[in-house]
Amino acid sequence: MGRLTLVQLAYNGSQFENNAAETVLDALIRQGVDVSYSCKNGFFHSCMLRAEDGEIPQNAQQGLRSSHCDEGFFLPCVCHPISDMALAPPGLNGEFRTAEVVSINPLNSSICRVSLRPEIELRHRAGQFINFRRADGLMRSYSLCNQPDNEILELHVKRMPGGELSNWIIDELQPGAKISIQGPNGGFYLPENAIDKPILFIGPGSGLGALAAVVLDALGRGFTAPLRLYHGTSAGKGLYLRSAMANLAEANSNFRYVPCVSGIDVPKFCRQGRANDIALDNYPDLRGWRVFLCGTAGMVHDSKKRAYLAGASLDDIFLDPYEHREAPAPQHNELSMSRGLRDGKAGPFHKPSDRFGP
Ligand SMILES: Cc1cc2nc3c(=O)[nH]c(=O)nc-3n(C[C@H](O)[C@H](O)[C@H](O)COP(=O)(O)OP(=O)(O)OC[C@H]3O[C@@H](n4cnc5c(N)ncnc54)[C@H](O)[C@@H]3O)c2cc1C
Ligand code: FES
Repeated sequence: MGRLTLVQLAYNGSQFENNAAETVLDALIRQGVDVSYSCKNGFFHSCMLRAEDGEIPQNAQQGLRSSHCDEGFFLPCVCHPISDMALAPPGLNGEFRTAEVVSINPLNSSICRVSLRPEIELRHRAGQFINFRRADGLMRSYSLCNQPDNEILELHVKRMPGGELSNWIIDELQPGAKISIQGPNGGFYLPENAIDKPILFIGPGSGLGALAAVVLDALGRGFTAPLRLYHGTSAGKGLYLRSAMANLAEANSNFRYVPCVSGIDVPKFCRQGRANDIALDNYPDLRGWRVFLCGTAGMVHDSKKRAYLAGASLDDIFLDPYEHREAPAPQHNELSMSRGLRDGKAGPFHKPSDRFGP
């Protein structure tokens, strides 16, 4: 069906008009409906709704896991409706819920492991991500680095120079604090019935967390085909979980871990160069391979093209790009509170910690 000029949206017992020029999200906002959203670009899944009736355009489900698509979830921020639609709130997966911070521990000089206990169990697949929201509404996405059978969620948060949320998490967030999380999101995981075939994993910095989660999932499923993990950093001190990865390689002959350093001071156990360049040069023929790419958006999209040109099928390339939006604060009617928090005037701030020492 082609695009209509005007469709009707039903939501929470009310009817709204949606014109062809606007997305479902814009139509709801224009008419004063209380909905969560942030990037307005389909990146963070923070606006997810469910369609109880009506046709969902394909692009409005891009990046959602297949079970979500089957249940009618879609992203209204990228949905130009092609029929009348009856909409419903997202339910538990799309809603924000409380989680308690259990611990925050350094993994190296700029990355820490944040452990969270969600109030309600969150069922995820290894490699998916959640949205992490501070009390004033500031929200960012972080990959889930633990295996799904653990009730404690593990994030690897890297300090971004000048970064609002990452610095707050590393310096100020304390065990016992309550934050909000939404998810799990994204299709960065091994499909349920995935057959055993070689996998190339590439990611810099804290991207190792999601990649290692998928590696463990593959090993846990008994995969015996080659698993190759290229982890990148600009200097040797940026590596982390090195002995855990080396032990894993020692215990599993099909798994190989290759740390890569792009700077000039390269430890002798590392390859010199960018992880994606080294990995893709080492594997010029990726026919029959799966490829997992995680990290900065430019690197991920560039490597996707190269993996495709090397023969990997698009269905076998899994992406977790750290897309970045210019206007970082999410919008929600209920979040108009506590601007003082961001001005440093009020709110649950603690003195900066010395977690990383001097
Ligand atoms: C799906 C997904 C999964 C993610 N998983 C992780 C994870 O597991 N661990 C992790 O540490 N981070 C992860 N990120 C990135 C994370 O969401 C934040 O973007 C990051 O922590 C920086 O937030 P901030 O508030 O500290 O920085 P901001 O205050 O948003 O930005 C500070 C400065 O850095 C720049 N900047 C911020 N982010 C980027 C970027 N991605 N690319 C280029 N410039 C940028 C800004 O322009 C600004 O100048 C993920 C992002 C996505 C979309
Ligand atoms: S995914 Fe819709 S607002 Fe970000």
